[in-house]
Amino acid sequence: MVNPKLSTRPKICYRPIRPSDFDILEHIHVKLFPIRYESTFFQDVVNGRDIVSWGAVDSSRPDGQGDELIGFVTARIVLAKESEIVDMLGYDSSKSDQTLVYILTLGVVDSYRNHGIASALIREVIKYASSIPTCRAVYLHVISYNNPAIYLYKKMSFKCIRRLQGFYLINGQQYDSYLFMYYVNGGRSPCSPLELLAAIVSYMRSGFKLVAAKMCKSEDRKMSRWSKCKESHSLVSATHNKRNLAVECTGYECV
Ligand SMILES: CC(C)(COP(=O)(O)OP(=O)(O)OC[C@H]1O[C@@H](n2cnc3c(N)ncnc32)[C@H](O)[C@@H]1OP(=O)(O)O)[C@@H](O)C(=O)NCCC(=O)NCCS
Repeated sequence: MVNPKLSTRPKICYRPIRPSDFDILEHIHVKLFPIRYESTFFQDVVNGRDIVSWGAVDSSRPDGQGDELIGFVTARIVLAKESEIVDMLGYDSSKSDQTLVYILTLGVVDSYRNHGIASALIREVIKYASSIPTCRAVYLHVISYNNPAIYLYKKMSFKCIRRLQGFYLINGQQYDSYLFMYYVNGGRSPCSPLELLAAIVSYMRSGFKLVAAKMCKSEDRKMSRWSKCKESHSLVSATHNKRNLAVECTGYECV
């Protein structure tokens, strides 16, 4: 059941997501998100392949479904130097083995919203990130019109550090995204003059790459009449260093 009735006295518990959650996890994603996720994504989540996750269940549900997911968060560890926010982490991050935790998807079924479940799931992610000595921050993308989610991240002291134009391509329409981050383990934004300079250079370099990629893209369009983007299954980032071409991707970003 994708939208269960809230029990009179919900008892929310948090646990890892496991293989038996596959169907409900997929159902909730289909219901909550405007993009489609590949089956391999759910396989990776439930089997913990490169993805960490937490599920929320209401153990007081009278319908014998006290172990059925009513909320979830999925995330993965990325290398700071390979991330799009390396310039926000201080000079050393471009060289070292520092890591970040990237939130892929977060959702709570309608009837259980505004009970603090998403906040608790995000706290789990922050706790997990803080337990990894190399980890410097938790970050995520959110589509620019998703006010409940934006409110939630701000409430949890995430900082909005960037607006990425045309990051998402959904049913042929481009949407901006905000990039939110939360520092852990003493992670901090660059503040010495040298670090600031390095950050500016890195930011400008990614800007140049974007312009170059856009020019290549328009050349490609002129050359190939037949290339087709599978929009309903894809997200496009116009500003992400590594995702600045229209590609079919696995759609793992939070929306
Ligand atoms: C965003 C989402 C995960 C929040 O889940 P949740 O369990 O309701 O979140 P919480 O209860 O922890 O916190 C919600 C807060 O947002 C507030 N809120 C809810 N709707 C809001 C709105 N439209 N505008 C502003 N604030 C809003 C609530 O009042 C609450 O704040 P409070 O604790 O100060 O009262 C849930 O709405 C959802 O699943 N949305 C669809 C999927 C999605 O957008 N995921 C995020 C992708 S980045």
